[in-house]
Amino acid sequence: MKKIPFTLLFLGSLFYASAQKKSTDQKVDSVLRMMTLTEKIGQLNQYSGGDDDTGPTTKDGDKHNQIKKGMVGSLLNVTGAKATRALQEIAMQSRMKIPLLFGQDVIHGYRTTFPIPLAEAASWDLPAIERSARIAATEASAAGIHWTFAPMVDIARDPRWGRIMEGAGEDPYLGSLIAAARVKGFQGNGLGNTNAVMACVKHFAAYGAAVGGRDYNSVDMSLRQLHEIYLPPFKAAAEAGAATFMNSFNDLNGTPATGNKYLQRNILKGEWKFSGFVVSDWGSIGEMLNHGNVRDSADAAFTALTAGSDMDMESRCYKNNLATLVKDKKIKIELIDDAVKRILRKKFEMGLFDDPYKFCNEQRENEQRNNIQNLLAAKIMAEKSIVLLKNENNILPLSKNIKTIACIGPLIKAVRENLGFWSFQWQDDTVKIVTVWEGIKNKVSAGTNMLYAKGCGIKDSSRAGFAEAIAAAVKADVVVMNVGEAGDMSGEAKSRSNIGLPGVQEELVKAIIATGKPVVVMISAGRPLIFNYTADNAPAIIYNWWLGTQAGNAVADVLFGDYNPSAKLPVSFPRTEGQIPVYYNHFNTGRPAANDSDVNYVSAYTDLLNSPKYPFGYGLSYTNFAYSNISLDKNIMAATEKISATITITNTGNFAGEETVQLYIRDMVGSVIRPVKELKGFQKVFLQKGESKNVSFTFSTADLRFYNDQLQYNYEPGNFKIFIGGNSVDVKEKEFILK
Ligand code: GLC
Repeated sequence: MKKIPFTLLFLGSLFYASAQKKSTDQKVDSVLRMMTLTEKIGQLNQYSGGDDDTGPTTKDGDKHNQIKKGMVGSLLNVTGAKATRALQEIAMQSRMKIPLLFGQDVIHGYRTTFPIPLAEAASWDLPAIERSARIAATEASAAGIHWTFAPMVDIARDPRWGRIMEGAGEDPYLGSLIAAARVKGFQGNGLGNTNAVMACVKHFAAYGAAVGGRDYNSVDMSLRQLHEIYLPPFKAAAEAGAATFMNSFNDLNGTPATGNKYLQRNILKGEWKFSGFVVSDWGSIGEMLNHGNVRDSADAAFTALTAGSDMDMESRCYKNNLATLVKDKKIKIELIDDAVKRILRKKFEMGLFDDPYKFCNEQRENEQRNNIQNLLAAKIMAEKSIVLLKNENNILPLSKNIKTIACIGPLIKAVRENLGFWSFQWQDDTVKIVTVWEGIKNKVSAGTNMLYAKGCGIKDSSRAGFAEAIAAAVKADVVVMNVGEAGDMSGEAKSRSNIGLPGVQEELVKAIIATGKPVVVMISAGRPLIFNYTADNAPAIIYNWWLGTQAGNAVADVLFGDYNPSAKLPVSFPRTEGQIPVYYNHFNTGRPAANDSDVNYVSAYTDLLNSPKYPFGYGLSYTNFAYSNISLDKNIMAATEKISATITITNTGNFAGEETVQLYIRDMVGSVIRPVKELKGFQKVFLQKGESKNVSFTFSTADLRFYNDQLQYNYEPGNFKIFIGGNSVDVKEKEFILK
């Protein structure tokens, strides 16, 4: 058969894609022409369906009647193929028969709960993260969901902020790659496939920089910092083809994000040419009255729509005011038409006009219950997320034939806690959560005697259980403790000023360590916690975050060596709340500390070491990796060239294992000051005992760009350092000059 030249194929595919888009746009225009003003405004109106409200609800009016009149474009928090079908049937009774969009917060799994996003970020495993989102989309779409309000891509440097659990940590480079992976996972082979859901990139923008880490608080920063640190993950998600964005509750530089034209019109829809639609966050349009940048709800509606907020989640400002604003010629119908067209286009792309019920298939929904492959994927993702923080005298891994093991702590037998925030509570409980206790029980030999003592509660101050816990520890050959937060102590509206181990848990740790027994302390939380006594005195520490449905099995695989921990921290751990914010990509200042304890007229706290308790990128393995022979293929780089850095990594320990090799750069002199380190690459390498590998990174001037004080994004010639290592501190370095 005659081969068709590639260029012809390529041009043909471009023509097909543009023809397809043209035909969708034609369909959208033809529907729009037939719509009344009420029906147009209806498409911009979203209500919570009430199955599991995720914000302050307004009990008003008969939503079914409004749906029938074409006054509702979307619902969130409606769960199940049956429930969504029933509501879609009502929408099909409306004059225009425009299908509803069903959205839900499928943040880290639907039926099968995966580790919380911050835990997944600790895996630095982009294919695994994409697969997690893919499975979530497959399960959710089978239950009638078209649209997930994820990925949350907010950069967070403040662990007092409860929503740090929902993102990918403090770094824009890692955060950008994870954002794109999650978008691809959710949207799969493209909208219109019945196992694809629309992604929704949130919260646009800079929500994670709330002053004091206090949720919903103000954000004020230079545009340079906004572009350098907080926007890159959003841009990466948009470039990955995200269908929608969600704006954020915070004000940014004096204007609430919901009414922020610079963010939504200039950057997102202008510079980035985003063709999807923007949904407000829950009630955020109406909340502009609290912010104080609008006079009333009509002004809020005007300001939000003008600024580029297309759909109104739960505030009713659009429904109650837009028609009057149009009639009084205070707002142009073209603005409403643009928002409506953006929403209709996604409904066409999802295939909902062809078949409004294509996602409401109860049989397919049932096939997704207790999906063994999904549970296995969740266990693997959980294993990859567990961070080994300390392992003195190689107390870990434990032997499966241990004679007596005491399991102590309020989270050993905890069940739902393991799912963390933004998880679903199934009434039928068809997906069984594996507790830490069960995981260990499944793992140890029949001859192992397992003792249990809760010891204390998560938050309360009772020490009544200490004696029983100490007694159990004394009888054991090894003690495994599981302490930490409650599953809902991190998440939305969960900011805390004190992020130590809650209650009297660290006293319990101290009492158990005092028995002299070997103690492994596992910490479960949705954020970095402060636990200095434990960190300094426990011989072994594992950070479990919240690991989801398969938590216990993953924990046991790590405890007993069936999985060699490989995770690396995506966020710095502070020594005290007073040290916050502490992050690795900071500036040098004019008086940098010479070492960890230098306080002599330098930028430091006189009562605290200068470094974080655990640095960004840190995580241990049961084996050891030695880094040597760092080299560059050139020391002087022309702007038109690439440069390659190579290093040898050797597994010098007794276990095969995976290492995440990290590459950082430092631009020594810039027209504006540059961070002391910036992550610019990483590679995961698996090495058998004694094995060595050379790992190379190649980069160009494109990787050296930054925003100058004119907001121009470019590189500047000069001296650079590159650093390579297994975390952001213990690194080998080399220098080069960019001509
Ligand atoms: C919440 C959250 C947002 C979520 C939305 C719908 O307030 O801020 O992330 O997607 O409302 O539940």
